[in-house]
This record gives sequence, structure tokens and C-alpha cells, in this order.
Amino acid sequence: MNRGFLIVFEGIDGTGKSTQCRLLAESLHERHVPHISLAEPTRGTWGMKIRKLLSEGREGISPQEELSWFVNDRREDIERNIMPALQSNKVVLMDRYYFSTAAYQGALGLDPEQIRLENETFAPVPDRALIFLTSPEICLERIESSRDQKSAFEKLDYLQNVQNIFKSFTGPNIRFIDSVGSLSEVHEKVLAEIEDLFDLDLK
Ligand code: TYD
Repeated sequence: MNRGFLIVFEGIDGTGKSTQCRLLAESLHERHVPHISLAEPTRGTWGMKIRKLLSEGREGISPQEELSWFVNDRREDIERNIMPALQSNKVVLMDRYYFSTAAYQGALGLDPEQIRLENETFAPVPDRALIFLTSPEICLERIESSRDQKSAFEKLDYLQNVQNIFKSFTGPNIRFIDSVGSLSEVHEKVLAEIEDLFDLDLK
């Protein structure tokens, strides 16, 4: 392999995308494929501002301003982490990317397609965007049983709108993954959706 790939994991909270991102990293590790795992929001200056918003709520900040925070965080991530890794031929696995911005900030009344297009003016377009789908009711149950406190972004009707936007994305790099079944069953679905990118047998 002589170039890096960008594979992103997207979907509402509780779909299991973060776990699947980790399982794919393990598969790549076992096969000695150079890779890096990243996540947005990051732990940088903008990412930490966003995390405060998640725990304290959105009051006092407009959807447009919220959007700009996620975009600033991403610009920093691209410059510091994503581009250098791609340039050194690594596979970059991302837990959330600009499809999350289009879906979550789009669900606040902004135009999702416009957000996606604006991001694509500065953000490398992923080779594959895996969008995990599970019913929002199940996702909320999973979140409630695994955490003490829900974030300000985790309300049923909001998540339903977010997921509807995720479902509306089209393009040759988009793959939907029904995240029902065991972890290993869903992992197999992930491998099936990305194996054509690699010269190796990942299964
Ligand atoms: P999440 O992946 O849950 O982070 P962590 O597991 O580290 O807490 O992301 C936090 C929240 O941020 C999640 O509810 C989705 C939201 N989000 C957006 O609203 N827009 C974005 O562009 C991104 C990347 C995330």
C-alpha cells in the first residue's frame, strides 16, 4: 500500500461506532497495517470548549457559533493530525468527522448539505464513511445504562432528527451499517465494507 486511507465512523451516540472503530484498529494492528485512531471533538482547545458545552448545555450559544467551534476543532485536527498521518501513508480511523457536524448541527436548523459542502472545501474527503444505524430508543437505553449522566445532545427527538440526516447522505464513499447483532457480527459487516481498500485479507 503506498498511500494513506481515511475511514470514518459516524452515527448517533449509542450505535456502537466507537467500539467498532477500536475493533478495526485491532484488526489492522494484527496485520501490521500502519494506522492511527483519532476522534472528534478532539482534546485540543476547541474540543475542550465543545466538551464544556456538552456537559453544561447549549444555552447562550447560537447554532451558527456552535457550528464554528466544531469547524475550528476540525481544521486544527486536519493540520496537526490527519494530514501528517495520511502523508506518511497511514490508515486514519476517525471516530466522528464532518458528517456528524452536518447531522448534529443540521438538526438545529442549519442546512446539512451546505455544512457538508463547506467542510469538503478544507477537509479531506474520506475513502469510506461508515454510518452506523440503530433505533434512537435503543441508543438512549444503551447510553443510560452505561453512563451516569446524559449529555446535552442526547434527547430522543433530537437524535431522531440527527439520524434522519445521517440516513440522507449519498455518495460512493458512504456505507450504512445496521448495528444489530453481536460485536463480532457488526465487526464482520465493517470488514466487508472496507476490504476492497486493502490488498490484504482482513477476515
Ligand atoms: P462523542 O463521540 O460522543 O464524544 P465522546 O465519546 O468523546 O464523549 O461526541 C460528543 C458529542 O458531540 C456527540 O453528541 C455528537 C456531538 N458532535 C456534534 O454535534 N458535531 C460534530 O461535528 C461532532 C464531531 C460531534
